[in-house]
Amino acid sequence: MNRIVSIGVNRNTFYITTPIYYVNDIPHIGHSYTTIAADALARYKRMRGYDVFFLTGTDEHGQKIQKAAQANKEKPIELADRMVEKFKNLWKILNVSNDDFIRTTEDKHVRQVEDIFKKIYENGDIYLGEYEGWYCIPCESFWTASQLSSGNCPECSRSVERLKEKNFFFRLSKYQDFLLKHFEEHPDFVRPESRRNELHRRLVAGIDDISVSRAAVEWGIPVPMDKKHTIYVWVDALFNYITALEYYDGSKRLKKYWPANVQIMGKEILWFHGIVWPAMLMSLGIEPPYQIYAHGWWTLEGQKISKSLGNAIDPVEITDTYSVDTYRYFLLREVPFGLDGNFSYNALVNRINCDLGNDLGNLLHRTLTMIEKYCNGIVPEVKNVSTDGQELIKKSKTLNDEVELAMCDLQFSRALEAIWEYIGLVNKYVEISKPWVLAKEHTTRDELNEVLYTLAESIRIISLFISPFMPDTAIEMQKQLGLSANEKSIECGTTWGGMKSGIKVHKGKPIFPKVEYSTIT
Ligand code: MSP
Repeated sequence: MNRIVSIGVNRNTFYITTPIYYVNDIPHIGHSYTTIAADALARYKRMRGYDVFFLTGTDEHGQKIQKAAQANKEKPIELADRMVEKFKNLWKILNVSNDDFIRTTEDKHVRQVEDIFKKIYENGDIYLGEYEGWYCIPCESFWTASQLSSGNCPECSRSVERLKEKNFFFRLSKYQDFLLKHFEEHPDFVRPESRRNELHRRLVAGIDDISVSRAAVEWGIPVPMDKKHTIYVWVDALFNYITALEYYDGSKRLKKYWPANVQIMGKEILWFHGIVWPAMLMSLGIEPPYQIYAHGWWTLEGQKISKSLGNAIDPVEITDTYSVDTYRYFLLREVPFGLDGNFSYNALVNRINCDLGNDLGNLLHRTLTMIEKYCNGIVPEVKNVSTDGQELIKKSKTLNDEVELAMCDLQFSRALEAIWEYIGLVNKYVEISKPWVLAKEHTTRDELNEVLYTLAESIRIISLFISPFMPDTAIEMQKQLGLSANEKSIECGTTWGGMKSGIKVHKGKPIFPKVEYSTIT
């Protein structure tokens, strides 16, 4: 095993990745979920002052893509080129702020994967052997007979094909002790904990060497020492996380951003990321990522999402009917990150009408209406702050800590809950202080000003906290408050008093008008 080279010591950087998605089909809710979650975290970290590198992309080789292209009577690269546009377009629509988009058919990636494969072979960790077992094309996964479930793929339950071919193997078994030690020494390496424990149990039970080439698949990167084979698509794919950083000795980007801070994915591909990936990195002498985070699966109205069931709804349609920010909010709020969840239009509509319309939208609208009515649309000055106002100031500070704590563990729903608790307090403050009563008496003018300023300032702070989740809404709220630009830093931005008196507000239409329940067909 190579000596581990410590790279990426500058921890003001934050490297975050999504899986790279297969291009055999158009993106659906599931793909958008992972990418939106990664985007919210990337935006949040940028607001906290980190130099963020956020990577997503597409996985374009392998039998699955080859077959899909054949069925379409086109070349695999033609299929890939078409599908990549669908992914890129969706990320644009969903306001995804990725810093790079990697395609595994890019020259840059291909050349590096060849080098990496050669390096591991020269290390003695790749050897030629014979594979005999089962293969699931949709999952691009090898299985032993004992792993099959009623003769089918244990992952997706579809039929598998018998394989017997000469293959190159990676000595995964050699890394068992290293992996066990790594798991012990880094209890947060795999999150959430339940999944970490599951994976750890599999690791303890023992790991076999894995096949890393395919003799019968043409659509892939040729094995450098035997061009009759192509590199197994999963090996090709995993290395995207470092080829995007331009992996080669002395690469500045790699030094700057590696090890990745967090690699996000669905639970079904945790084995590859939590076991195979760190072992291969070790073989190369590169540190494993800091954290692998496996989230749960979405079902749709209680059913598994899949093209064959005909229920793989296009997120573009959902966001056309509702909006991008309501969709982003719903996905991250509805289900604790890590657990499975069910997408239903009813639940989406409820969230839009209750959390977004009633709690947030109305608060902004009625506050601006009162500032217009009682202060000619100018944010008033404050002389002193009453106990109720002090309470909100104090709470805005604890909110900062609560959100930070939740985001550090990718608990998006908890962060949003904390923000909505605060929104609830601000709404209560309106009811308790009754500005419409204060406005009737000249003697209560200072009190009225205080209340209206406190409301405007609270809303400004709320807009900052929600901006990683709902970037457009945050900008719109700030615009309506009369602020010129989206404030970038949460640190100074959320300190009380950032709202300047004398600013003219620009009340617009309610930001979340009531929506009716409907399904998209
Ligand atoms: N190409 C591999 C990943 C290689 S990464 C080195 C792959 N691609 S995929 O297109 O099948 O995407 C799988 C990922 O999409 C999941 O891990 C998850 O991030 C997301 N999802 C796809 N369907 C999903 C749900 N129904 N629910 C939640 N997320 C799921 O696997």
